[in-house]
Amino acid sequence: MINLSSSDYYENIPNFARLYNYLLGDYHNLNLERHLGYKLSKTYPQICSILQVYRLFQERGVEYLINQGIDQFIDIGCGIPDPGSVHKITDSLNIPYKVVYVDNDPVVIDHCYSQLYSNQNTLEILADLNDPDQIFENSSVLDFLNLSKPVGLIFINVFEYVHNDSDLRVLLNRYKKLLPLGSFIMINHITDYRYCSGDDKQLQAIINCFKELGIKIKPRSAGFIEELFADLEIISPGIVHPSIWKPDLYDDLLVENPGDCLSLCGIGKKIRE
Ligand SMILES: C[S@@+](CC[C@H](N)C(=O)[O-])C[C@H]1O[C@@H](n2cnc3c(N)ncnc32)[C@H](O)[C@@H]1O
Repeated sequence: MINLSSSDYYENIPNFARLYNYLLGDYHNLNLERHLGYKLSKTYPQICSILQVYRLFQERGVEYLINQGIDQFIDIGCGIPDPGSVHKITDSLNIPYKVVYVDNDPVVIDHCYSQLYSNQNTLEILADLNDPDQIFENSSVLDFLNLSKPVGLIFINVFEYVHNDSDLRVLLNRYKKLLPLGSFIMINHITDYRYCSGDDKQLQAIINCFKELGIKIKPRSAGFIEELFADLEIISPGIVHPSIWKPDLYDDLLVENPGDCLSLCGIGKKIRE
């Protein structure tokens, strides 16, 4: 395992996952990312609420899947574990579960190792979203999960990294094929400003800040995001802004102005081969 405190690479280069972790209000980040995060939140004060809304969608989505009998999850593009991560949601419900965390950033996977090394219910693997077979054929994953049983497959804000639309369609079709019948796919995806009530300057500020970190994200249209759920049974309330996907409370974040979430989300169930 890499020693986080002694590596130049980890200390001298701002890391996107640590910036995201900072914006989510957690502490697994360095001054470099705090500085960028502060700048971003000055330009765009709603950013932290927006990311919280994405987290709350993940929480309600995972709870929904648990209520449907799902007890094993694969979270792809998981980011650094924090109090809103999937295993925390399942822990809080006190049920037996398995979570595989997947990310292609070694910084993320090292954080997963150091936070979760004693957790028998989680497995962390360094792998690329673009290679579904590598993930589903990984021997540790095969030992850890029972892939003859349904799985909850989670993609929260990671498809934005796949810039080519046809590549993403092909990729997701492969995931759908690999999943056992009865599995669910949960997606949250940044949508383009034409669909949102937020103006393009706000989305542009985020995109520019991410660019400073060498991260290029691609927002997509509502139509394209809906297409991602093709061949799946779409769970009510459908493909909507995350603040209004089964909100818990009338005063949940951004329920009044769901377009400000700058994303669309949904859950689909595999009901046919
Ligand atoms: C915006 S963050 C979202 C993190 C987490 N899903 C959440 O909601 O907090 C995107 C994550 O996807 C990871 N990622 C980006 N491209 C990836 C790829 N090709 N394969 C696996 N993970 C990837 C990044 O390293 C980062 O941790």
